[in-house]
Amino acid sequence: MLRLLVASAAVFAGFLAVEVSAQLHSVAKSAGKLYFGTATDNPELTDTAYTAILHNASEFGQITAANSMKWDATEPSRGDFTFQNADVIAQLAKTDGQLLRGHNCVWHEQLPSWVSSGNFNAATLSSILTTHCSTLVGRYKGQTCVYSWDVVNEPFNDDGSFGTDVFLTTLNTSYIPTALNAASSADPNAKLYINDFNIESAGAKSTAMQTLIRSLKASKTPIHGVGLQFHMIVGEVPTQSVLIQNLQAFTALGIEVAITELDVRMTLPATSALLAQQQKDYTTIVGACAAVSGCVGITVWDFTDKFSWVPGAFAGQGEACPWDANLVKKPAYQGIIAGFKG
Ligand code: G3I
Repeated sequence: MLRLLVASAAVFAGFLAVEVSAQLHSVAKSAGKLYFGTATDNPELTDTAYTAILHNASEFGQITAANSMKWDATEPSRGDFTFQNADVIAQLAKTDGQLLRGHNCVWHEQLPSWVSSGNFNAATLSSILTTHCSTLVGRYKGQTCVYSWDVVNEPFNDDGSFGTDVFLTTLNTSYIPTALNAASSADPNAKLYINDFNIESAGAKSTAMQTLIRSLKASKTPIHGVGLQFHMIVGEVPTQSVLIQNLQAFTALGIEVAITELDVRMTLPATSALLAQQQKDYTTIVGACAAVSGCVGITVWDFTDKFSWVPGAFAGQGEACPWDANLVKKPAYQGIIAGFKG
């Protein structure tokens, strides 16, 4: 009898252990999503405490290169393609059995000056763009880890007009289908995305993105998804129903959506009240994706405050990630789990 009691207690403890150690990608899969993932960057990969978590495919079933697949990193001068760092990230995904989101083919930032200040005519710039997209995407074609590409990154201003950069000025909006067609020819199996921020709830920019998707679809241009970045501020996250409605406005167009760069920053110093609100904010956002079947996955824009882009970009703000700078899980981590579990 005693033996039976001990055995039952052990089984119960086993269940508890499983429950307590629920991990992000596993919980996302249980909620019917393809992945939960994170951005990562080459300089971070020498930090073994960091990589121990990054390699854990139960936490992260997908990774995105935060910098090493961008134009300045992959074609620093014309025709000079360098994939050393990008290959490291792709290999990491392959070895760990994680999906890869390619990021990105065309963006006005981290664009080398030979492109932005080259004074190329339309035909030449179009050919430069096609070569860049097809060489970059083609490099990883057929590798089982490749799930999607952010082909076009941040094409809009906040008022919904197209951002003025060398591509718009020289090619007008034709640069968008040019890039998508080049990516599609280079890897017909990758899901092709347009990725932007401040399109998380209804407004001029979200509407403009929907108009663009409609016109690309009408012209039979390959487009499969919209990435909503979700760089948010603690306490300023829209309600879950507002987020769901907006996600559904995109999926109604016959495309999928993904949360591609999630973080929720706060004004420092962090307090327990701010961390508790951040936990709720993560739950709200993750729950919105969980509620929309066409929302395929969520990526945090790195998982630890140790390597977050936020303090470098917003003075006095930070603590935006689910792990703190000492690689200890914050309440936000449980907020993500709760969002998937509903
Ligand atoms: O490569 C140089 C290096 O040579 C130099 O020594 C060092 C000194 O500061 O700078 C390095 O460049 C930095 C680069 O990251 C690579 O580490 C830039 O200064 C820095 O501004 C750049 O920041 C990146 C930012 O994009 C650029 O806009 C962030 O790491 C990256 O997380 C961020 O990611 C973007 C997404 O791609 C698109 N959506 C918004 C998101 C956050 O800004």
